[in-house]
Amino acid sequence: MLVDLVAVAFWAMLPAYVPNNAAVLAGGGAPIDGGRTMDGRRLLGDGKTWRGTAVGTLAGVLLALGLNFVAPDVGHVIGFELPVFPFAAAVGLALGAMLGDVAASFLKRRTGRERGAAFPVVDQLDFVAGALLCTALLDFGWFAETFTLPVIAVVIVLTPLLHVVTNVVAYLLGLKNEPY
Ligand code: CTP
Ligand code: MG
Repeated sequence: MLVDLVAVAFWAMLPAYVPNNAAVLAGGGAPIDGGRTMDGRRLLGDGKTWRGTAVGTLAGVLLALGLNFVAPDVGHVIGFELPVFPFAAAVGLALGAMLGDVAASFLKRRTGRERGAAFPVVDQLDFVAGALLCTALLDFGWFAETFTLPVIAVVIVLTPLLHVVTNVVAYLLGLKNEPY
């Protein structure tokens, strides 16, 4: 069932969706790259801070643990089982999402894009790639069981849509400088 697939994909990815938004709210302070440059351009830029990354990761992990509490009840209501996050998977999804975003900024700077510049497709899927990769590394059994090919396909279609909508909303609310 497509509805089941979408629900499982969305649920399993929630701990990876929240960190970026938490980082936007918590951002500021010292940049991770400490101002260092490579070939005259910043390594990562001022948009990637220690505080944003730490708060984003923590928010994702806490959300996963919270979801574990309500998964049985929500699963009962919707009539199918929702994934429960082992701690390693929670860390993989949240930290991986942040690292994917950091890796994208590294690529953006290397390709001459200033902080805040759009990098279509990369902006929408960097954290998905990071989250899936990190989760597979930290708990491969859970990853393989949860992220079947159909679920991954739904994630790849669903995520850019959600990303565009949440970023436009954050922009309209004045929380973000660009709507992407
Ligand atoms: N942020 C942060 N630390 C992170 C990710 C995000 O502090 N690891 C905060 C920063 O305040 C950043 C804002 O969230 O400006 C928006 O995030 P993002 O769009 O990813 O950064 P940009 O400023 O657009 O920079 P870049 O071009 O490198 O993506
Ligand atoms: Mg940006």
